[in-house]
Amino acid sequence: MQESNGALNIASRRGIYYQAFGIYGGAGGFYDYGPAGLRIKRKIEGLWRRSFVDRLGAMEIETTTITILPVLKASGHVDTFTDPVAVCTKCKSSYRVDKLLEEAYSASGNEEGYESVKKMKAQQMGEKVKELGLKCTKCGGTLGGIEAFNLMFKTEIGHGSGEVGYLRPETAQGIFVDFKDLYRIHGFKLPYAISQAGRAYRNEISPRQQLVRMREFTQMETELFFNPRKEQSELGGVRIGDIKDRELLFASAGEKERMVKIGELLEKKLIPNFYFAVMLDIENGMLQKMGFPEGRFRFRQLEPEELPHYSKGNVDLEVNTSYGYIEVAGNAYRTDYDIASHARNSNTEICVNEDGEKVVPHVVEASMGLDRLLFSILDCSVTSEGREWEWLRLGKEIAPYTYAVFPLQKDEKIVAFAKKVLGELVGAGMDTYYSETGSIGKRYARADEIGVAYCITVDFQSLEDGSFTIRDRDSAEQERKKLGDVVDKGARA
Ligand code: GAP
Repeated sequence: MQESNGALNIASRRGIYYQAFGIYGGAGGFYDYGPAGLRIKRKIEGLWRRSFVDRLGAMEIETTTITILPVLKASGHVDTFTDPVAVCTKCKSSYRVDKLLEEAYSASGNEEGYESVKKMKAQQMGEKVKELGLKCTKCGGTLGGIEAFNLMFKTEIGHGSGEVGYLRPETAQGIFVDFKDLYRIHGFKLPYAISQAGRAYRNEISPRQQLVRMREFTQMETELFFNPRKEQSELGGVRIGDIKDRELLFASAGEKERMVKIGELLEKKLIPNFYFAVMLDIENGMLQKMGFPEGRFRFRQLEPEELPHYSKGNVDLEVNTSYGYIEVAGNAYRTDYDIASHARNSNTEICVNEDGEKVVPHVVEASMGLDRLLFSILDCSVTSEGREWEWLRLGKEIAPYTYAVFPLQKDEKIVAFAKKVLGELVGAGMDTYYSETGSIGKRYARADEIGVAYCITVDFQSLEDGSFTIRDRDSAEQERKKLGDVVDKGARA
């Protein structure tokens, strides 16, 4: 696989994100966001909130990131949330065996072998490592037997209590655990969605590929609870007739992707149900708004061997990046697995009253990884088309700033007018920054590099008629406008 280049250059040059603890040499899998990166991240989160929470009329909550043992025992994470690891018998370096095999197959161009790894059990992986003669990449030593390594970070709650806690490996469990109380307080009707965005933690083995595999990252998850006995006709005002003719780039299990209508996905049972279809449609729209070029992302149906322990059907949303296809979201039909398991383990009845009947709701989950989305959109939107510098063609909704304001020269009156424009825009709630450093060309280039949507330049004419130029990042074309036009336009951006 190719090394990612342009996006990574910009990311490091402009400090969009960078390795955490840099002055101490860094630590694998931990990244910090700089100012532009944090803004893009928040914009993506805002778009997710509009797309899922607002669109579905969902309830958004925030639960703790430290989770007590019984919760993660019930969810299956304590017993099954593991990756296969092999340790070098000589230098003791640890390797995630499935990744090692994938890399070996990828290097030899064996696509079939690469795909087969996803379905392998630990024992088969061990046999393949021997068959391919894979050694420690650091010292050439022999790799030892495969062990299952639990990915959760463990801690102790309180001094000497012996009470075990874990940093949550997914935000979803907080939603399942709170479901009963939320239902008691709010008394909603099914289908009903509950969402959460926040940090998740996984002690990944030798993480690489920057934001793709982190030890601390952000998830944006939506759990849609529904009555499995009722016909599915509408969700958030969307009916099947509204979306059945929309097309997604979809790869059925083990097959190449093609454009498929949502109606066909349902008819051929390539996805579990209508609610699942609505989630995929929302994700598709969200990635289009982020600015992903057509054909760069696909939905892939997982094969039965790839399914997580809780799932009766998964479709991953994958983006084709310079690291190859990476999963940016997992969509799963979790059935009543979590609710039923928490009810059993907490000795609590968790159900919903529907038409005089007690119903244990089923769940469709849309779980998006914010950092991977950010990484992928940088990777897919970086270009040097038409310019002598690299720039980001981000969707305008996720630009770090909608406006940059520049005085053409450091003339006192021009600067004063430019600052007035800045004040008006900020006062109207628009994300805007100001710069008077460097030539105007350099300032445009610096704004383009981080994907600022529009640059406003105040010049001598501004002093006469109150107009200024506004330059569109994508076309680099400039128009003369006045504050009133921009404030209106910005409010819609
Ligand atoms: N609740 C279901 C769940 O957590 P997942 O497929 O394990 O499913 C969902 O994770 C998303 O979280 C992934 O699609 C990915 O975008 C993100 N993610 C998972 N592990 C990650 C990691 N180590 N670094 C960055 N993002 C990660």
